[in-house]
Amino acid sequence: MRITRAQMVTSTIAATATLALIPGIALAQPSHPLPAPPGPVAHPTHPVTPGSGIPADSLRALGAKVGLRIGTAVNADELASDSTYDSITAQQFSTVTAENVMKWDTIEPTQGQYNFGPADQLVAFAEAHGQLVRGHNLVWQNQQPAWFTAEAASLTPDQVKTILKQHIISEVSHFKGKIWQWDVVNEPFNEDGTFTNNIWYQKLGADYIADAFMWAHEADPKAKLFLNDYNLEYTGTKSNAALAFVKQLKAEGVPIDGVGFETHLDTQYGQPDLLNNLQRFAAADFDVAITEADVRTTLPVTAIEQSAQNADYSLSLQACLQVSRCISYTVWGFDDQFSWVPGTFAGEGAADIYNDFQPKPQYYTLQQDLELATGSAPRVRR
Ligand code: G3I
Repeated sequence: MRITRAQMVTSTIAATATLALIPGIALAQPSHPLPAPPGPVAHPTHPVTPGSGIPADSLRALGAKVGLRIGTAVNADELASDSTYDSITAQQFSTVTAENVMKWDTIEPTQGQYNFGPADQLVAFAEAHGQLVRGHNLVWQNQQPAWFTAEAASLTPDQVKTILKQHIISEVSHFKGKIWQWDVVNEPFNEDGTFTNNIWYQKLGADYIADAFMWAHEADPKAKLFLNDYNLEYTGTKSNAALAFVKQLKAEGVPIDGVGFETHLDTQYGQPDLLNNLQRFAAADFDVAITEADVRTTLPVTAIEQSAQNADYSLSLQACLQVSRCISYTVWGFDDQFSWVPGTFAGEGAADIYNDFQPKPQYYTLQQDLELATGSAPRVRR
């Protein structure tokens, strides 16, 4: 159930107050005047280990203290050209996700000719900075190569299956041993819980999903394999269907390890009951991860919208912190300059935790929540 805007503002106030939830400890929500955005955590910035260059109050260092990897999607063009972008990526995050360059249209722009270069650069960056990599993604209805979309409708099911298998085996084999989590199948569900009517479903039925996981596992048995989708954060038809389906896959012996919750939130909608959903997927023996967090709003950002953005970031991080099977919390890009949001939602933006490479209040909200979580029992590292 989505809550009303008034309820959301109440929770905003609670979330941005200093009584932010410590995992496992439920605090009564006090009635407060609207607080000022939180400031930096009050302790000095210094390297975690001398010479590491990682500040002790960075998101990655604080996350490490509670056994949670903090990640970002990475824009490969910026990574290759902007040293400020690089240093924030290295200092603040312990996992990285390729925002675009591991998608099929980049990897195989011409059939049989692979373009692994940009993704290899990201993997090398991660290795150099002690980061793990989330691979994104292997099967999706978007960003397919033009050569495939041009011929797909005329192909037989067997031909489509052969092409998909070839793609997955080639890409996963190339990165074997270097990817922590793969988003094997991306966004396979409609809002009503039916399967997205993409070319794979049209030609192969829902079997394409189990096959994709099996091929990925064959190519890299140690990678954690995820199904990733949006709006699973809300309890309802879509998340119910996804949960039933992944349970069925697991019961059939399909090698699926986890479920990714994208968590693209918007202040004009109510907050999701994300904790309930993380918990029920975890209870079904899945790892879970927040894979694409951001919180967009209408522009220009008002004080109350800023407060709601802080609350939504806080809600998603705290939900993850409270579920030991939640193994990573990833923002979908860290800086508004490079966000996908304005290109997709006219009049909206400011969705990220930095702008112009300066931390915004939502950055300090995440920092503060992590800092508070370090006072609770350690999470189980996985
Ligand atoms: O690379 C071309 C470039 O050659 C061309 O000149 C330019 C002209 O528009 O387009 C470039 O491609 C763009 C691509 O990003 C790389 O920058 C596409 O137009 C643009 O549509 C594409 O957007 C990406 C979007 O996925 C596509 O669906 C966003 O950057 C990316 O953030 C977004 O990420 C998705 C996740 O993969 C899945 N979940 C939702 C999330 C947000 O939509």
